[in-house]
Amino acid sequence: MKKTALITGASSGIGLEFAKIFAKNGDNVILVARSGDKLNEIKERLTETYGNLNCCFVKDLSKPNAAKELFDEVAASGFEVDYLINNAGFGDNRKYLDSDFEIHEKMVKLNVVALMELCYCFGKAMCERKSGKILNVASVAAFSAGPYMSVYYATKAFVLSLSESLSEEFSENGVSVTCLCPGPTETNFGAVSDFGKSNAFKYLGIAKASNVAKAGYKAMMKGKPLHYHGLNVKVMAFLTRFSPRKVNTKFSKFMNSEYLHK
Ligand SMILES: NC(=O)c1ccc[n+]([C@@H]2O[C@H](COP(=O)([O-])OP(=O)(O)OC[C@H]3O[C@@H](n4cnc5c(N)ncnc54)[C@H](OP(=O)(O)O)[C@@H]3O)[C@@H](O)[C@H]2O)c1
Repeated sequence: MKKTALITGASSGIGLEFAKIFAKNGDNVILVARSGDKLNEIKERLTETYGNLNCCFVKDLSKPNAAKELFDEVAASGFEVDYLINNAGFGDNRKYLDSDFEIHEKMVKLNVVALMELCYCFGKAMCERKSGKILNVASVAAFSAGPYMSVYYATKAFVLSLSESLSEEFSENGVSVTCLCPGPTETNFGAVSDFGKSNAFKYLGIAKASNVAKAGYKAMMKGKPLHYHGLNVKVMAFLTRFSPRKVNTKFSKFMNSEYLHK
């Protein structure tokens, strides 16, 4: 029987690459994002190429109850989700006080609350069925504090911590939870978060979204709790374990600074 993957943030970047992988494998794909036009176009392309059953849900997951609504609508449409990819997210590369508070709040609602609620709703259904896999997209930002991108780093630290805990808890019911931690990746993220001109993008090297998604998919299928993408990210994650937190914070501050004019 065909399996079904639900991917949040499937209209571009890493999420779109995940959608292509699942569709190519013959799974049904549920695409979720705010841009209905883009989703419909992607759905048509995937259906035409791979002949599987795909559908889209246009949702702003930062809105109250959006995650629960999505769960109910997916259930009402008769799909049983086997793979949940919590990928939608955004950042904001600015000093904390230079951003509107609403942006910080929206980021927490999308990157944290929606992800947490989707893990709860779909995780519960999966644990009852004793089958399923969840992949949460965090970031290399999960490993330290991040001045000039403070809320984003905090949200990703939350995602990493929650994922590692749920990986242990859900494994008791045969459900795996994988946390994917990429470094700078070529997507719309750089432009949306104004992070593209940062030292991180200049010095860490930029991964291809397709490679990040492939590596995440492999890690999820193996049921690995954590996957760092790229040697640079692995080295950074390793070093942050041994260096003082203050040093890590200063290092992130440098990485989040703009290499041209900050
Ligand atoms: N690119 C990087 O350097 C990098 C590094 C580490 C981690 N990440 C993480 O990777 C994930 C994917 O980002 P990306 O790099 O692929 O960036 P992207 O190309 O900007 O994709 C973000 C996706 O999230 C969707 N989205 C944004 N706000 C949403 C909302 N309120 N409700 C529903 N969907 C929403 C966007 O679609 P719509 O605009 O159509 O809603 C889009 O499909 C994020 O969690 C990001 O934090 C990225």
